[in-house]
Amino acid sequence: MSKADKVFSLARRRGFFWPAYEIYGGVSGFYVWGPYGVLLKRKIRDLWRELFVYNLGFFEIDSPTISPYIVFEASGHVEGFKDVMVTCKSCGKKFRADTLLKEKGVEVEEGLKPEEYLDLINREGIKCPSCGGSLGDPDYFMTMFKTTIGPYSDAIGFLRPETAQGMFVEFKRIYEVFRKRFPIGIAQIGRGFRNEISPRQGVIRLREFDMMEVEYFFDPENDDQFDLDEYMDETLNILHEKLIREGGGEYETLTVKEILERGIVEHKSMLYFMVLAQRFLEILGIPKSRQRFREKLEGERAHYARKVFDQEVLLDKWGWVEVSGHADRTNYDLSRHAKYSGEEIAVERLLPEPKTVYIREAYPEPKKIKEQYPDKIGLVMKELSRYSPSELYKILDENGSIEVDDVKLDKSFFRIVEEEKRVTVEKFIPHVVEPSFGLDRITYAVLEYSYTERGDRVVLSLPAYIAPIEAAVYPLLDRDDLKGVAASIVRDLEMAGFRVFYDYGDSIGRLYARGDEIGIPVAFTVDLRSLNDDTVTVRDRDSWRQYRIEINRVVEFVERLVEGESFESIASSMGLESVD
Ligand code: ATP
Ligand code: GLY
Repeated sequence: MSKADKVFSLARRRGFFWPAYEIYGGVSGFYVWGPYGVLLKRKIRDLWRELFVYNLGFFEIDSPTISPYIVFEASGHVEGFKDVMVTCKSCGKKFRADTLLKEKGVEVEEGLKPEEYLDLINREGIKCPSCGGSLGDPDYFMTMFKTTIGPYSDAIGFLRPETAQGMFVEFKRIYEVFRKRFPIGIAQIGRGFRNEISPRQGVIRLREFDMMEVEYFFDPENDDQFDLDEYMDETLNILHEKLIREGGGEYETLTVKEILERGIVEHKSMLYFMVLAQRFLEILGIPKSRQRFREKLEGERAHYARKVFDQEVLLDKWGWVEVSGHADRTNYDLSRHAKYSGEEIAVERLLPEPKTVYIREAYPEPKKIKEQYPDKIGLVMKELSRYSPSELYKILDENGSIEVDDVKLDKSFFRIVEEEKRVTVEKFIPHVVEPSFGLDRITYAVLEYSYTERGDRVVLSLPAYIAPIEAAVYPLLDRDDLKGVAASIVRDLEMAGFRVFYDYGDSIGRLYARGDEIGIPVAFTVDLRSLNDDTVTVRDRDSWRQYRIEINRVVEFVERLVEGESFESIASSMGLESVD
């Protein structure tokens, strides 16, 4: 049994996650996070929030998951968010072309076109893995979920495949709310939806999943908000483009300084987020040696990105798996939304010295247009709003008029502005670097890395600060006096804000085993001696070592453990008596 299979079995047995809709036979790509899974995800999310939002002075928003068609038309997703799919001519099953070929051991570059997949399938003689039948011609499949908004079948909407667009669409308002503060980081945590073709990797590839994304809006000519000085000697495992092209192995370990000097990552802000991403996973228990950043080559990158590094984690069954993507999205998204909405989306940058500019702009005069074309005014104004005043001037200057629908407007329908101005600022469309994390994949990776076996027992060695339940309390015997003491310890711990697992009625060995499988870092057991000297045993989940601790120090013990101190160090500094 692979480790992944063992983790899936534990997750189902102990209620971390399991396939959704099981009583109806299940639907692939949909999973339920159960009671302990939800708690674990929440802790991971809170840690991310602390590192990527609060500590950086960023802010979160919460925008809708359903968008009107125009948002994803403007963003380029309608055109570009698709995978190549192939259908079996005999049984009708559908497969993602790249996955199918990779599973057959064929090397596949990402971003191939349908006809290139067809060549590969023919050359390698690939048949349907399900029934052995012949495969049809590969074709594109758009992986956004489509819906309609309200009772109008023509009002098409999409479930967002990324939370990012909410931050781009609302950027203008946020910039105003923060009184034009710039640069600015905006974060969003929420569901993303992708209609993946035949997903078969459990919570690694879902059709509905949680994303944690930051869009950092900045001036590419002045990208120095983040000070990398203290990280210059920190190393990252990096599989950059040159290494990939030279076939130079899994990665190269480089310092931040070397990465900057060699121009492997151009923007300091992007590198800063990558360093932070590496730390984030290390805090979650995934060592640096099992992480790498892989550069995406042209053709593999999403349509909006100029440069991308995927943060990958080495997993038991699937090898290197992406858990976060770090993209330089340039000003692509904001430019497109400006164009499609007709709104100006720009910020100001101070010029090194004032300069003279020649303003040539044309502004439509709705009153005049309405007098002449009363039935068309709405349509005409909407179409004109797609152009900036300077674009309108240019068209009028070059053609003498502008045609909208079948209406021809000359200069007399516009207010023309021609003037010279001394300016101290210039406008530009902000650039964006984006760290984008998938919470489900990260939570799975954390579970896999904390999964350990001792003999025939399973121990989930989660770092104490993300353990879903922080402490267990057990009466050794099913007796009211012991249960009374245990209940008061539970109360103390709960009052201090901890989640406590309280159980009895089974052998203490079985109680410990259950707690270990859920990853509870510490257990307190009330026994007969407790009735005489107000002490209980404190047991470490990982080493199974035990000490005696005074009941009134239990809360402090858990507090220190959750803050990151080791079990042994707390026991020794408290001078606890060993029980072993
Ligand atoms: P992949 O190449 O594995 O399909 P991707 O390149 O499409 O991933 P991104 O578009 O960069 O992924 O999405 C950002 C993050 O969202 C990923 O790093 C990953 O953690 C997560 N993610 C993407 N797709 C899924 C999915 N289907 N199920 C679960 N998490 C996902
Ligand atoms: N927002 C990054 C992605 O969805 O790929």
